[in-house]
Amino acid sequence: MHKTLITAALLSAALPALAQIGAPPRDKQLVISHRGASAYTPEHTFFAYDLAIQQDTDMLECDLILTKDEVPVCIHDETVDRTSESTGRVDSFTLAEMREMDFGSWFNTSNPTLANPKFVGAKIVPLEEQLDCYLRLNPKMRFHVETKDSAGGRAEQIFFDILTRKGLLATGDPAKKVTTTTMLLQSFDATSLERFRQLSDAVPTAFLLSAPTPAMAQWVATGTLPDYMDVFAPNSAQLLADPSSITRFHANGHDVHTYTVNDAQQMGLLLDYGIDGIFTNNSDILRIEVDERGKQTTVEERGVNPKTFAAGCPGIAGRVTSNLGPGDVWEPTGLRGVQLKTAMPAPTPSPVPAPTPAPSPMPTPEPVMAAPVATPASSSAQGRFGGGTLGSVLLGLAGLATLRRRFAVK
Ligand code: G3P
Ligand code: CA
Repeated sequence: MHKTLITAALLSAALPALAQIGAPPRDKQLVISHRGASAYTPEHTFFAYDLAIQQDTDMLECDLILTKDEVPVCIHDETVDRTSESTGRVDSFTLAEMREMDFGSWFNTSNPTLANPKFVGAKIVPLEEQLDCYLRLNPKMRFHVETKDSAGGRAEQIFFDILTRKGLLATGDPAKKVTTTTMLLQSFDATSLERFRQLSDAVPTAFLLSAPTPAMAQWVATGTLPDYMDVFAPNSAQLLADPSSITRFHANGHDVHTYTVNDAQQMGLLLDYGIDGIFTNNSDILRIEVDERGKQTTVEERGVNPKTFAAGCPGIAGRVTSNLGPGDVWEPTGLRGVQLKTAMPAPTPSPVPAPTPAPSPMPTPEPVMAAPVATPASSSAQGRFGGGTLGSVLLGLAGLATLRRRFAVK
C-alpha cells in the first residue's frame, strides 16, 4: 500500500513534465564533435578534427587555453600531463615548446585496440590553425570554442582580436545568430561570457552548467538566462532528469546544447526531447541518430564535408607563431559560412581514401561496441541514468513514450 502511494505520487509528479517534453527543436539539431572525433583518435589533434569532418560533423569544439606567449591552443586540461609525454601547465610553455611535445602516444597507451603508429608525435593545434584548416575544407564549418581559463580576461580579448582580424566575428544572420553563425563561445565561467559580450555581441554564447547554484537552479526552473547568454548547455544528466527544461528554455528563445553523450539510446532520447545540439566523442553515431529523425542541417547549411582530403592540414599546420597569426581574412558568404580572401596553398588530394565511417560506427575494422572508447580523465559528466530518483521515473516513462513514438513511425 505504502509502495503504491509512493508510485502514484511519483507518477502524478511525472505527468505534467511528460506533457511538456518531446517538443521539436527550435531549428536544426547539431552534431558537435567533442574534442574532435575523440572516441577514435587523440583528442584535439588534427587526427581528431579530420575524422570529425569525415564523419560529417556540424561543429568542431576547441577547449581554449593560452600558452605562456599567449597563443590560444586547443587543449582540455590546464596541464599537458594527461595528453602528452611531458608535464607542466600549458601556460608555462611557449607555443614553440608545445610544438615539440607528443600529443598522440598517450592515446595508443590508453586505447590499445584503437592504437595507431601514425598518432605518435601528434602536434598541438592552435585555435587559429583549426579555423584555417577546416574553413578551407568546408567554408560552412562551425566552431564551439570554450574558454577554459580566462587568464584575467586575456583569453577573451585575444579570441576577440583573432576573430576580428580574420573577419569571423559577424558571420551569421543577426536575427538567428545561434543557428547561423560560424563561431559560438561556450564557458562554465559566466564572467567569461559576460566579458566577451562586452567586446562583441556578434558571437553567440553558451553557458555550460555542471552543478547549479541556487541562482542557476532558478534559471532552469524558469527557462531564463542573463542577457549575455544565448544557449543553455548543461551536462546531459540534468536534461535526462528534467527534460521539460528544454521546452522552458525554448519558450524563452534559448537553444539548448548538452554534453557529453556517446550512447545512441541517450542521444535518441535527447533528440526526441528537442535538444538543439549534442557534444559527442562519437560524431558518427550521433550523425546517424540526428539524420534518422529528419532535423539535420541541410547541405546548404552544413556545407559539404569532404570525405577525402590531405590529412593533417598541409600548408596550415605549423604556420601560427604568435597570437598575431599569419593574417588570413575570411569574408561572410551569406547566412552561413565564410570564404578565405587571402590565398593559401590548396590542399593536395590524398592518395589514400579516407576511412568511411558510415554505416559502421567505427572508422576502423574494430566493432565499436567491442572497442574501448577513449574516456577523458576530466570531470566531464557523461550522461547516465541515475537510480531510485524521480528523475529516473520520469526518464523511464519518457523513454517508453519515445520508444512508442519511434515504433509508431517505423
Ligand atoms: O564544452 C562542453 C563540454 O566539453 C564540457 O566539458 O570538461 O569536456 O570541456 P569538458
Ligand atoms: Ca569543452
